Parts: sequence; structure tokens; C-alpha cells
Amino acid sequence: MLQILEYIEERDRMNLINFLRALPREDLYKRFFTPKIDAEKYVSRIGGRDGVILVAYYNNELIGLCEAYRDDGEWETAIIIDRRFRRRGIGREMLKEAAKLILKRGGRIIYGIIDRSNRSAIEFGKALGADIISLDSRTVKVVFKLEDIIE
Ligand SMILES: CC(C)(COP(=O)(O)OP(=O)(O)OC[C@H]1O[C@@H](n2cnc3c(N)ncnc32)[C@H](O)[C@@H]1OP(=O)(O)O)[C@@H](O)C(=O)NCCC(=O)NCCS
Repeated sequence: MLQILEYIEERDRMNLINFLRALPREDLYKRFFTPKIDAEKYVSRIGGRDGVILVAYYNNELIGLCEAYRDDGEWETAIIIDRRFRRRGIGREMLKEAAKLILKRGGRIIYGIIDRSNRSAIEFGKALGADIISLDSRTVKVVFKLEDIIE
């Protein structure tokens, strides 16, 4: 059974650390723009940030993370789904849940910064109706209108 829940430190902390630790380098790069992170340090900072943080569980196993943080009035998001669970609509569902919460907090637009070579993330953005804006030779900005996502 799939569940998408707001992150709760006491319940999710260790599961999230283990999820991040198990990610292949390639996935870490796509999500964090670096092939290596200190998972424990990263997760300890998550709770302290003013954001919308969702975790996905499949049969009690943490298999996805969607983060969105307010940055100068705009919301920036980043999502990662366990490889074994991709193309099942979980990323879409997580972004939709995040969009509802961000709308309640007055947000209208959310964007992600992704590497140009990240085809799945670009296709994901297009599938959800995002505008893809070129930033520089390496990255693009994928801009979603929250109203479009929740429909
Ligand atoms: C991008 C990512 C989050 C998408 O998550 P997902 O759960 O697989 O996405 P969904 O199943 O909700 O996909 C929704 C739609 O997006 C499109 N899409 C997603 N992945 C795609 C791919 N690899 N190729 C083509 N289209 C794709 C499809 O239209 C899909 O609908 P469909 O499966 O009915 O055709 C996932 O691939 C991932 O974790 N990638 C690594 C981390 C990353 O790059 N994150 C983004 C930058 S922060």
C-alpha cells in the first residue's frame, strides 16, 4: 500500500537516512548535483527548514522524498523516487500533495532546477505541464503552476 505523508522527524528520520544512503551515485547527482552526501547531516537539517517535506512509503518502506522550500517568495522543489518504484505515478502524486500544501501557504508557482541531461525529470516536468526554461549550458528550470498540478 502506498502512503504519502508529511515528514515527521521521530517516525521518518532513520528511514530517510537509510533511503538516502542506499541511493546510487547517479541518483544522488540528479537530485543533489553531487555524487556523495552526508545523509545524516542532511536529514538533521531538514526538520529545521521552513518547507513542505513529504515522504512516500510503500508497505512501510520509505521509497520517495519530495522537498519544497520557499526561496525569496518562490518555492523550489526536488523529488527523488526509488528506482524500483518509478513510472508508477508516485512522483506526480507527491508533487500534487506538495502543491496543495503550498497553495494553502500562498504559493502559486513552484520550480525545480535540473541538469539538461536528466531526461526523466524533464519528461516528468513536461507531463505535468511545466514550462522548461534554459538557465545555462548545464541546467534548466522546470516551472510548474500549482493550480495546474492539483487538477
Ligand atoms: C523524475 C522522477 C522524480 C519522476 O518520478 P516518477 O514517480 O517516476 O514519475 P511518475 O511516475 O509520477 O511520472 C509521471 C509522468 O512523467 C513522465 N515520465 C516520468 N519519468 C519518465 C521517463 N523516465 N521517461 C519518460 N517519461 C517519464 C511520464 O509521462 C509519466 O507518466 P506515465 O508513466 O503515465 O507515462 C524520478 O525519475 C526520479 O526520482 N529521478 C531521479 C531524481 C531526479 O532526477 N529528480 C528530479 C530532480 S530534483
